Amino acid sequence: MANMCNIDGRLVAESEATVPVLDRGFLFGDSIYEVVRTIDGVPLAWAEHWARLGASADGLRMALDLDEATVAQRVQQTIEASGVDPCYVRIVVTRGTGDAPNIDVATANGSPRWVVMVRPYEPQSGKPARLQVVERLRNDRRALDPAAKSGNYLNSVLGLAEAKAAGATDCVMVNTDGTVTEASTSNLFALIDGTWCTPPLDAGILAGITRAMLLDFLPTCGERVEERAFTADELRAADELFLSSTLRDIGPVTHLDGRALHGGEGGPRTKALLERFVDRLQARLRDRDGPQWRRLLVS
Ligand SMILES: Cc1ncc(COP(=O)(O)O)c(C=O)c1O
Repeated sequence: MANMCNIDGRLVAESEATVPVLDRGFLFGDSIYEVVRTIDGVPLAWAEHWARLGASADGLRMALDLDEATVAQRVQQTIEASGVDPCYVRIVVTRGTGDAPNIDVATANGSPRWVVMVRPYEPQSGKPARLQVVERLRNDRRALDPAAKSGNYLNSVLGLAEAKAAGATDCVMVNTDGTVTEASTSNLFALIDGTWCTPPLDAGILAGITRAMLLDFLPTCGERVEERAFTADELRAADELFLSSTLRDIGPVTHLDGRALHGGEGGPRTKALLERFVDRLQARLRDRDGPQWRRLLVS
């Protein structure tokens, strides 16, 4: 049982894994990544994560040089070498090694560097969050679009640090229009006037895979859901709030700006949804992700 990596096709223990100092991911955050979680050895929603990796590459004008089956096989080998289940799997693709510490992409003359990291998944499904609306704005889409899951996470790193300094566990950032975007590594849902509202993609957020699943799932539970922009004041007036992410599924928000919501327990509708959503993920894994993953490994 060890944390394992695969760097450009070579398996290596995480404690021994290194990248060169001229790697552009190290120098400039010039990289993209995905975080996937396994259940019973199968990556949840692999197809969606693979598609988003491609979209992030396009967003950074980065040409990916490996096909899906090759990456899936590397992921599977790394999972097997780690001997861990369930796993946290991080796939990082950097623009590769430049010939100088120079921001010009023309100096990155090699191929992209592919790193797969596998560690145990520490259960976080349903993990509650205390949120703080921070002063720091979410990156503007016209500057560095949050839709591309790049390795440049300084905006979220600093937003989170500010929230923690205020005694919260995560931040909410608003955008330059003054509407709510998302938390540091999660999307956000707010129950406003009986409808679950989540900021639209054009608010400048990551197109979360859990968020997309929830947009389909909530109506099947009789819940109304809408992608719409809302302000921090509307957020503060919401009846319930939750975060969504691959690692957390649905995370009830227990406090906002230091104020306890539902006695610091999170909302009752949120809790009921979590249970049903986890069942839905299991069914999805059995019927869809599992068979697709096994087909990919033999292709
Ligand atoms: C900024 C940000 N928003 C939202 C999410 C949630 O996305 P997903 O549901 O695909 O994990 C993440 C996940 O890492 C994230 O980094």
